[in-house]
Amino acid sequence: MQCIQSPAPLFICPNRRAALVIVPTATQAEKNVKIVVNIRVNGNEQKHAVEPRTLLVHFLRDDCKLTGTHVGCETSICGACTVLLNGQAVKSCTLLAVQADGAEVTTIEGLAKDGELHPLQEGFWECHGLQCGYCTPGMILAGAQLLERNPRPTREEIAHALEGNLCRCTGYSHIIDAIAYASKKMSKKKQ
Ligand code: FES
Ligand code: FES
Repeated sequence: MQCIQSPAPLFICPNRRAALVIVPTATQAEKNVKIVVNIRVNGNEQKHAVEPRTLLVHFLRDDCKLTGTHVGCETSICGACTVLLNGQAVKSCTLLAVQADGAEVTTIEGLAKDGELHPLQEGFWECHGLQCGYCTPGMILAGAQLLERNPRPTREEIAHALEGNLCRCTGYSHIIDAIAYASKKMSKKKQ
């Protein structure tokens, strides 16, 4: 049986009870529109012409070729795409690249300095804070924001700060250990 097409974006199939709402896709003309976006990523200027609907996470992965930022749910639930935007942890699947124009972004690739792991990266290594590693860049950047705001968090505070980041395979206690390790190491460095 053929579907009846009602005025877009609603399609109703006579043999179904529910109507299916179709989100309109970009027309060819819209796809041809490009906007130049200039974002400082990990200290380097990244200037690329992108479609206005390009998400920040796709800008980072596809245009900047920084694939350490992962795409999980694309619905702001999992936190795999977490980066720092002007120092604040954000889910880069919830922002358009054009919204970040002129901003400073830090991704996982920007944490190690002079070939030395950031204490958070070292903590994940030392405390077995990862298995598949899919959630890890997002966890580390959420941890970076926490330690910036609260250098000596309790385990409860670490767990609270990671509420927006999901891990499906490690178990959270090793991840909390990793951030506590980094907190201790960073505090020692400051003394
Ligand atoms: Fe962004 Fe899951 S991919 S929150
Ligand atoms: Fe596999 Fe977290 S280490 S999802």
